[in-house]
Amino acid sequence: MNKLYNAGIIGTGSSIPDKILTNSDLEQIVDTTDEWIVSRTGIKERRIADSKVATSDLATEAAKKALEDANLKASDLDMILVATVTPDMHFPSTACLVQSNLGIEGCPAFDIEAACSGALYGLITASQFISTGVYKNILVIGAECLSKIVNWQDRNTCVLFGDGAGAFIVSRVDKGYGLLAHSMGADGNGSKLLKVEAGGSKRPASLETVEKGLHYLQMEGSEVFKFAVKIMAKASEEVIAKAKLSLDDIDFLIPHQANIRIIDASRRRLKLSKEKVYMNLMHYGNMSAASVPVALDEASRAGKIQKGDNIILVAFGGGLTWASTLLKWGK
Ligand SMILES: CC(C)(COP(=O)(O)OP(=O)(O)OC[C@H]1O[C@@H](n2cnc3c(N)ncnc32)[C@H](O)[C@@H]1OP(=O)(O)O)[C@@H](O)C(=O)NCCC(=O)NCCS
Repeated sequence: MNKLYNAGIIGTGSSIPDKILTNSDLEQIVDTTDEWIVSRTGIKERRIADSKVATSDLATEAAKKALEDANLKASDLDMILVATVTPDMHFPSTACLVQSNLGIEGCPAFDIEAACSGALYGLITASQFISTGVYKNILVIGAECLSKIVNWQDRNTCVLFGDGAGAFIVSRVDKGYGLLAHSMGADGNGSKLLKVEAGGSKRPASLETVEKGLHYLQMEGSEVFKFAVKIMAKASEEVIAKAKLSLDDIDFLIPHQANIRIIDASRRRLKLSKEKVYMNLMHYGNMSAASVPVALDEASRAGKIQKGDNIILVAFGGGLTWASTLLKWGK
């Protein structure tokens, strides 16, 4: 179907738990140091959801703020997409739970599982329905409670992640604004590098899987690192080329917030100055699908992005997956 409308983001919101876990707190839990964590990752602290708080709770709060920012009511929504690797439960989807929390019914709601690339997979999916005129307003949320699936005895992983949620309202925008280009992909051959092995149909949860800790997130960090550095720059270059722009036209890059070294290496490859790259990982760690939407919400509310700016959003994650978009900011 041909493109009838321009799709863009007209509202953003986020929800971050109050509880802060610092690197020195982690020194009491595993054999690590603040110096190691800061020098290898850039992370100083992360937020941890209360034991009674689930991903849908954070997602709902982020959604309400994004609706308010867009001047819309929940009943104006035509579809809800939630990107998460930490759904409240296997099913029903977290998107259906958010729909109920918002007090609405009827519109389609489903989850997207593309790990840290999920919110951008969601944004790109939503943009197809908007630009073809099928729907007018779509809620896309990236939300995670990673603290509930990391092994708090594994120093290789538990220092890296945090909890939070960010939301976009994707709608029709004026000509020339919104998504100018997108790119996304996956390489399932890398599926072993980042995973939660048990609890699904291949290895259903059992006493044995729990004893072996197979319900926790596992990662081959250095392999993911190499992939990330390559793909962040490549995916960014792809959207610049598709939009027929050049690097000089880019005003702001909002990358997935996994590791300061990955972001810096990608930034250098793209020859962008530090001022053009948004970073909040020092405060939140890697919030997987929530990282990019939270960063965009913060940058927008802090007035760091202006109407007419060309902004790249780019992410990589388990799967392996990656996605990027080039937006002309229209808010
Ligand atoms: C995980 C990561 C920070 C590790 O950094 P690194 O420089 O690659 O470190 P290495 O894996 O080489 O480990 C170096 C040593 O530090 C140790 N180490 C790991 N975690 C540690 C911690 N929290 N504190 C202290 N030492 C630690 C390792 O055990 C290893 O020790 P050894 O050499 O005695 O075996 C880095 O690989 C990374 O960020 N990868 C990408 C992860 C990612 O982005 N995941 C999410 C994808 S969306």
